[in-house]
Amino acid sequence: PTIHYTDDTGTTVDVTAKPGDSVMETAVRNGVTGIVAECGGSLSCATCHVFIQEDQVEDLPPMSEMEDEMLYGTAVDREDCSRLSCQIKVTEDMDLHVTTPETQV
Ligand code: FES
Repeated sequence: PTIHYTDDTGTTVDVTAKPGDSVMETAVRNGVTGIVAECGGSLSCATCHVFIQEDQVEDLPPMSEMEDEMLYGTAVDREDCSRLSCQIKVTEDMDLHVTTPETQV
């Protein structure tokens, strides 16, 4: 699986991910900036906010109510394609494009 992280300036980093890891963990392990993940993935910080490439939003499992609620607390306002990257599990054949917001705090 590959995750493509694009920052707000348009720079993209392509990372080979491990199935079972989250999109947040994959970023942190590979030194991708733009995802802070203060709470370490326990769904209580909203500093792992990403925008999913629009045509891929539907490919992901739907978000939980808790994630939806947390997305109202992001530093940069949520959009329809917003998700918390700690809640997205990498799957075998994933090829996911995400954009990180200008700031997470
Ligand atoms: Fe804190 Fe995702 S890492 S909510």
